[in-house]
Amino acid sequence: MAHVINLQCRECKSEYPIEPLNACEICFGPLEVAYNYDSIAKAVSRESIESGPQTMWRYHDFLPVEKEAAIDISTGFTPLIHAKNLGHQLGLDYLYIKNDSVNPTFSFKDRPVSVTATKALEFEFDVLACVSTGNLMGSVAAHGAKAGMETMVFYPSNLETGKIMGAAVYGPTMVAVDGTYDQANRFCSELADTYRWAFVNINMRPYYAEGSKTLGYEVAEQLGWNAPDHCIVPGASGELHTKIWKGLEEFGDAGLIKQPSTRMHLAQASGCSPIVHAFEMESNHVNPVRPNTIAKSLAIGNPAAGPYSLEVLNNTGGTGISAPENTIIDGIKLLAETEGIFTETAGGVVISSLQRLVEQKKIKKNEVTVAFITGNGLKTLDAMGDFNKAVNTTPDMESFEAAIRSN
Ligand SMILES: Cc1ncc(COP(=O)(O)O)c(C=O)c1O
Ligand SMILES: [Zn+2]
Repeated sequence: MAHVINLQCRECKSEYPIEPLNACEICFGPLEVAYNYDSIAKAVSRESIESGPQTMWRYHDFLPVEKEAAIDISTGFTPLIHAKNLGHQLGLDYLYIKNDSVNPTFSFKDRPVSVTATKALEFEFDVLACVSTGNLMGSVAAHGAKAGMETMVFYPSNLETGKIMGAAVYGPTMVAVDGTYDQANRFCSELADTYRWAFVNINMRPYYAEGSKTLGYEVAEQLGWNAPDHCIVPGASGELHTKIWKGLEEFGDAGLIKQPSTRMHLAQASGCSPIVHAFEMESNHVNPVRPNTIAKSLAIGNPAAGPYSLEVLNNTGGTGISAPENTIIDGIKLLAETEGIFTETAGGVVISSLQRLVEQKKIKKNEVTVAFITGNGLKTLDAMGDFNKAVNTTPDMESFEAAIRSN
């Protein structure tokens, strides 16, 4: 917090005070937190970070809140696993899985929400709210519970049971909106103008977005203070993709790592790939689509950070990949059967996209590659179908051996 200057418009650079604001009054561009990077560089070192807590809060100097006030349910510093089995199948020697599905509410969303809940208390809000494709609402409900705030979560009514129960358990007001995420989002923007609520991904978005940078910091630290050659990141609004890159760049600017030359690939599902489509058309404009995908957590047809995600793709030499719908479950099963990690549909999109990048020879055998697994598979059981082929037996040797023989 000591290093924060103000909010700044990403487009016209107009300056605003640190308040719950998200859009520029002059050009409607998104507002971002501006920092004094010289003072950050003086305050941090590899050693100071290494002696911090085993959570995302070891990077508090790069975040827009006081670490002492943090609403912290022990998020972050998740495992970076050398995926030797999957790497062997794909012909990659240095494939890593960043397993962010082991966060407290089983997705990476705990990172941005931990920052936002903290900031919401600082702004003296009583209500923490969000509009969600599923994972965000579980995280908002949990952090609201921890912060002693009232919580209101809005979501498209067709979400998976695991996502709904995974939020409802924390006791928020659940609002099922009869419509798509994009329709619910437009409605929530109206609500955010009317009620004094901290909508984490609307009026609190500048603070919310910062939390995801910690994924970039962590990966660099866990690779021995090196940026990877490739990142494969799942995309919905495109925010995560841009913020992992921002994290790597900031570490470069602070002298903690060499300036990164990572290729930032973006993975979307073919049933909802507006950013990838613009990338393939070599266009600067992201045309909205109506989502039709089993990867419901990625079903945002009109992505808020779409143009910036496109910029990151183009500036880093990344590739936008859309995973065919019929390969998503195969991707989930491949990761489970090789590395023992059960991810949700968004992770299936990442693994399928990784396979495609290798087939297209975009990733070489000896390049350090990080696939971001951002959500847990038990939340999207609805999408899996019934692939369990159990051997049925009564509890005796004869029946068991006969059943196994005929299997
Ligand atoms: C599991 C998972 N991964 C990735 C994303 C993509 O995040 P973003 O909207 O920042 O692109 C989401 C979004 O909800 C998600 O739930
Ligand atoms: Zn502006």
